[in-house]
Amino acid sequence: MEPTVLGIQEHPGAAPPGIAPSAGSCHDVRWAPRSVVSMDTPQDFSGRVAIVTGASRGLGKAAAARLLERGASVAINVRDPERADQVVAELGAGSFAIPGDIAADGVPEELVRRTLDRFGRVDILVNNAALPFTTRFERITTDEWRRAVDVNLTAPFLLMRAVLPAMKARRFGRVVNISSTAGRMVSTLGGAHYTATKTGLLGLTRAAAKELGVYGITVNAVCPGMIDTELTRETASAEQLELRL
Ligand SMILES: NC(=O)c1ccc[n+]([C@@H]2O[C@H](COP(=O)([O-])OP(=O)(O)OC[C@H]3O[C@@H](n4cnc5c(N)ncnc54)[C@H](OP(=O)(O)O)[C@@H]3O)[C@@H](O)[C@H]2O)c1
Repeated sequence: MEPTVLGIQEHPGAAPPGIAPSAGSCHDVRWAPRSVVSMDTPQDFSGRVAIVTGASRGLGKAAAARLLERGASVAINVRDPERADQVVAELGAGSFAIPGDIAADGVPEELVRRTLDRFGRVDILVNNAALPFTTRFERITTDEWRRAVDVNLTAPFLLMRAVLPAMKARRFGRVVNISSTAGRMVSTLGGAHYTATKTGLLGLTRAAAKELGVYGITVNAVCPGMIDTELTRETASAEQLELRL
């Protein structure tokens, strides 16, 4: 399904199912980016190479599809290797599967290394993957708190750090961190860990933007409100969904 914006407050859903192995299944053949770099219009991504994390569905998959439509080559990160191959088969030419749990040791660096092996460059990083935990404050365990921080905040930092040398070398980079209205205020349904990590991501975005602009790298965050994705359909109440109609 194509995500659409809902007219009500941001909501994260329940925790996704168990974590899949992080082994990659991409091939080691380098591909040239799809065509010569051209930025005639802001919507023209010809020749650009992007990484999108958590692209199995929802906003990540939609972002990957839009980038592909506009000429970019896209490294598709999905946790489960089989699902990653399915998504690439759906998205078609220019997409390339790099499965893995972004919170696992070495995976952020591996994701970037494989993108560079395949395409020789990386221009755009979309830090989309997140765990939308809804556990109420008094029930949040230390492990769940740490898991949220690892996936929602530490992994985006590690990915930004990993793409930096390649972006610096070309004096061009675009980092887009998917935060949330929860990061600007407080989540309606998400837990304290969700709100805290989405707020942290905004701080990370500001600090990185301040330091990396000098290299031609822009760092921005998007703060969606409630979007009609599979996740939302699975977790929002009928009443909440109704509010948009
Ligand atoms: N939908 C909304 O209303 C809304 C509002 C504000 C902000 N957002 C933000 O927008 C982003 C996308 O949301 P969505 O609605 O598209 O939700 P979603 O369908 O749950 O997408 C989240 C994606 O992140 C992936 N992911 C989670 N943990 C991962 C990990 N450790 N390694 C790799 N991938 C991982 C999930 O993969 P699996 O398929 O393997 O679980 C899934 O593909 C998130 O950052 C979310 O916080 C969404």
